[in-house]
Amino acid sequence: MDSFFIRPETPADIPAIFEVNYQAFAHYDEARLVDALRDAKVFNPELSLVAVHDDRIIGHIMFPPVTIESPEAITPAIALAPLVVHPDYQCLGVGAALIEEGLNVCRTLGHRIVIVIGHPGYYPRYGFRSARANGIVAPFSVADDVFMVLALDPGALDGIWGTVKYPEEFDAIVGSGMRKGKKADSLS
Ligand SMILES: CC(C)(COP(=O)(O)OP(=O)(O)OC[C@H]1O[C@@H](n2cnc3c(N)ncnc32)[C@H](O)[C@@H]1OP(=O)(O)O)[C@@H](O)C(=O)NCCC(=O)NCCS
Repeated sequence: MDSFFIRPETPADIPAIFEVNYQAFAHYDEARLVDALRDAKVFNPELSLVAVHDDRIIGHIMFPPVTIESPEAITPAIALAPLVVHPDYQCLGVGAALIEEGLNVCRTLGHRIVIVIGHPGYYPRYGFRSARANGIVAPFSVADDVFMVLALDPGALDGIWGTVKYPEEFDAIVGSGMRKGKKADSLS
């Protein structure tokens, strides 16, 4: 499908972004997470992109800031989470366009490392690789193959290791899942 375009979100998009997150996940966790991340001090609207088709928001991607922390260093990074495409428009290349444009914006803004929790059959096509194999681990229980990292420029991961620290807004969905004994398997 080529009749859609990607742009940063605007305040007028907020209800439609909530709705597309709800429609894609069939529950409110990610929709509420997006609202909470938008209200956070560190929110950058350049890193919240929408896909628009016929004046309708059909997809959304967000890149909240994270850090990779070890006793040696605290390294800034960015998370890809959440990513959604409305069920009526999935498997038409909208998710790919959101990821590619989003990663371009991240590069332009000087970000060098992206973390994702997502399907191991989907994200490797964009260059994501096992985070654990790079010495980067999650702060909660997550299968190794869904916890991935991408270096946006060569060498960005050299010497980087540690635990990813997510904004506290993630606690509401990951934290409650953990308390229920569930493993995180997808935030994007
Ligand atoms: C995941 C999602 C964002 C992909 O967006 P999309 O626009 O449908 O994807 P694209 O058209 O860019 O890419 C389609 C490809 O992704 C694959 N794909 C789509 N959803 C997938 C998923 N949940 N897991 C694995 N692969 C998936 C398709 O099989 C297809 O593969 P192919 O290119 O080999 O045929 C979208 O399907 C979605 O919002 N799903 C509901 C939310 C969700 O499950 N998020 C977790 C994703 S890990």
